[in-house]
Amino acid sequence: MTFSRIAGTGSYLPEKILTNKDLEQMVDTTDEWIVTRTGIKQRHIAATDEFTSDLAYHASINAIASAKINPEDIDLIIVATTTPDLTFPSTACLLQEKLGINKCPAFDIQAVCSGFVYALTTADNFIKTGSAKCVLVVGADTMSRITDYTDRSNCILWGDGAGAVILQASIEPGMLSSHIHADGRHAKLLCVPSGVSKKDSKSTISMEGNAVFKMAVKTLDAIVDETLNANGMQKSDINWLVPHQANIRILQATAKKLHMDMDRVVVTVDKHGNTSAASIPLALDCAVRDGRINRGDNVLMEAFGGGFTWGSVLIRY
Ligand code: UT7
Repeated sequence: MTFSRIAGTGSYLPEKILTNKDLEQMVDTTDEWIVTRTGIKQRHIAATDEFTSDLAYHASINAIASAKINPEDIDLIIVATTTPDLTFPSTACLLQEKLGINKCPAFDIQAVCSGFVYALTTADNFIKTGSAKCVLVVGADTMSRITDYTDRSNCILWGDGAGAVILQASIEPGMLSSHIHADGRHAKLLCVPSGVSKKDSKSTISMEGNAVFKMAVKTLDAIVDETLNANGMQKSDINWLVPHQANIRILQATAKKLHMDMDRVVVTVDKHGNTSAASIPLALDCAVRDGRINRGDNVLMEAFGGGFTWGSVLIRY
C-alpha cells in the first residue's frame, strides 16, 4: 500500500506588519480588547504589488528546499486560497509558471479557512491512488484585500501569508487519516457577499463573529473525537496540535478537549492573525523549523471556516 508523508515544509510572510496600535488609529478599538478577545498582537500585510501567487511562490521555494527536491520532481500543484490573484487562471497555474515547471497538473481549492485541510486530503488521495508521487500543497491568502478596515468587528482578525508542504509517496504513513465536512446552510454567517457571478455592493468580509465562534468550538470538539476514533487513539497519543489560527480562545477550547497543555499547541495567531488557508502550514513550518515537531510525532491539524467547512488531518510527521 502507498501512503503519503510530508517531506518538507516552507512558509512566507510579507514584510509589512500591522500592529494593534496601528489599528487603534484606524477604527474604534484597543490593543487590550484585541489581545483579550482574540490573542492577536500583529499581522502581516502584503505590499500593493505583492499577490497571493507571490506569497505562495516564496513558501513553495522554502518547502522545495526543505524536502531536498527539484521543482521538476513535482507532479501536481494544489493551492488552497480564497483570494486568488485573478478570476482565472488559477493561482496554482500562476505559481507553476513562477516555479518554471510546466508539465504537471495544477488547480486551486476553495474551502476558505479549511482550505489547507481540504487540499492536503485531496493530495493524499492522488498519492494513495497512484495518480501522483510528489505534490506541492500550498495554503496562501491575502485576506487584507477583502477586509473592510472601517469594520472593527472583524478587520482586527485578518492577515496575509502562505505556507507549503511537499507531500510524497511513501511506504510508511505519513498521513494517518483525514476528515472533511461542509454545511452550506450557514453560508451567510461568514461570507463575502459579492463575487464574479453575483454582484453586491459589499465585496469585503461579513461575519457574525459570535455565532461563528460558538459553532467553531462545538464543531472542532466533535472533529477531535472523530479523528481519534478513526485511528483507535487516545487523547494522550497526540503530541502536537497545529490548529487553524482563528482566535486564541478557540485554540484553548480544543486543547482543553484534548487534555493538552498549551505548550503542545502551536500558536502563531499572536504574530500572524488569521491568515485563512495559510495559517496551518505557516504554523506547521514554524514548529518544524524551531525543532518542536520532530519525525515520528503525531500531529493533529484542524480547521473551521466559511461555508461552513471544517476538517482535520492526523499525521505521523
Ligand atoms: O477563521 C474562520 C472562523 N472564524 C472565527 O472562528 C472567528 C470567530 N469569532 C471570533 O473570533 C470572535 O467572535 C470575535 C473576535 C470576532 C469577536 O469577539 P466576541 O467576544 O465574540 O465579541 P462580540 O462580537 O460578542 O462583541 C462584544 C463587544 C460588543 O460590544 P457590546 O455590544 O457588548 O457593547 C462589540 O461591539 O465588543 C465590541 N467589539 C469591539 N470592541 C472593541 C467588537 N469588535 C470590537 C473591537 N474593538 N475591534
